[in-house]
Amino acid sequence: AKNPVRVLVTGAAGQIGYALVPMIARGAMLGPDQPVILHMLDIEPAAEALNGVKMELIDAAFPLLKGVVATTDVAEACKDVNIAVMVGGFPRKEGMERKDVMSKNVSIYKAQASALEKHAAPDCKVLVVANPANTNALILKEFAPSIPEKNITCLTRLDHNRALGQISERLNVHVSDVKNVIIWGNHSSTQYPDVNHATVTTSSGEKSVREIVIDDNWLNSEFITTVQQRGAAIIKARKLSSALSAASSACDHIRNWVLGTPKGTWVSMGVYSDGSYGIQEGLIYSFPVTCEKGEWSIVQGLKIDEFSRAKMDATAKELAEEKSLAYSCLN
Ligand code: NAI
Repeated sequence: AKNPVRVLVTGAAGQIGYALVPMIARGAMLGPDQPVILHMLDIEPAAEALNGVKMELIDAAFPLLKGVVATTDVAEACKDVNIAVMVGGFPRKEGMERKDVMSKNVSIYKAQASALEKHAAPDCKVLVVANPANTNALILKEFAPSIPEKNITCLTRLDHNRALGQISERLNVHVSDVKNVIIWGNHSSTQYPDVNHATVTTSSGEKSVREIVIDDNWLNSEFITTVQQRGAAIIKARKLSSALSAASSACDHIRNWVLGTPKGTWVSMGVYSDGSYGIQEGLIYSFPVTCEKGEWSIVQGLKIDEFSRAKMDATAKELAEEKSLAYSCLN
């Protein structure tokens, strides 16, 4: 039998945490034959609720679940973890300035970076979900210099999956027959959902989405804004932000990273820019990636038209601004 993998979920008493931990314990993240030990971290005011989640995990009698650590101690939470899913953070509350929210999250991610660096397994893979996801991941990277930068990523897979979902609804095809959309940039409303390279599998072979949808007008406007603003639409409908879809996409992100992407398919991940596609180095930016043997690499050589270029640069600009705001909070 395989050795259990230790998976940390921070903010585990929150709504995404509540949807995510049973998925991990069922094998949705690491596969149906991979035992796991869950490490759950939250803060003191949520300690009792966190213990309730632990009780339910025990009650669910998951065969793959070999242990549960539920704690408010960051060092204990990070001890020997192989995967860290960072969902905990400080949400924006009414009347708060952007800078105040950034400042809270910068200090959380700075502290948690040091804890991961000291206590996690050396090859630990990190996924930041909490917003501002790209910039939290960047701060985590800056303050955990001994963790290789390729091991630190943020979640844009939810946006990627939302784009697949919109196309499948529009064309009335199964979502599994649509692939290779791209989310470029920030996990925010400036993200650019790009369909120029996306394809649909039909009875007469693989066709480009542009060729089948025909309506360029829909693809160039409503499709993009629907994906960009889907998070707000969910809040409006549910009075709570996306949780099950965020949790499921976090599982997809880690599963593809660890177990690989299918041949001919790429996914979107927020990763440290190496300058690909003219995106400045030093930002965590969402790119199309393929994964093999536990490593992602940015898909190279895609043709970028003028329309895309402008949108890719606009979201990079926002990330550069977030980065300087984050740095101004450090002083
Ligand atoms: P939530 O408020 O229900 O849960 C957050 C949890 O984090 C709470 O239990 C809170 O006590 C905990 N927490 C706060 N500070 C912490 C710290 N320093 N250490 C550990 N835990 C801490 O929020 P929800 O709905 O679960 O969302 C979590 C985060 O994910 C938010 O920042 C949200 O904006 C973000 N998000 C990101 C998405 C993405 O695609 N990247 C999609 C949806 C949400």
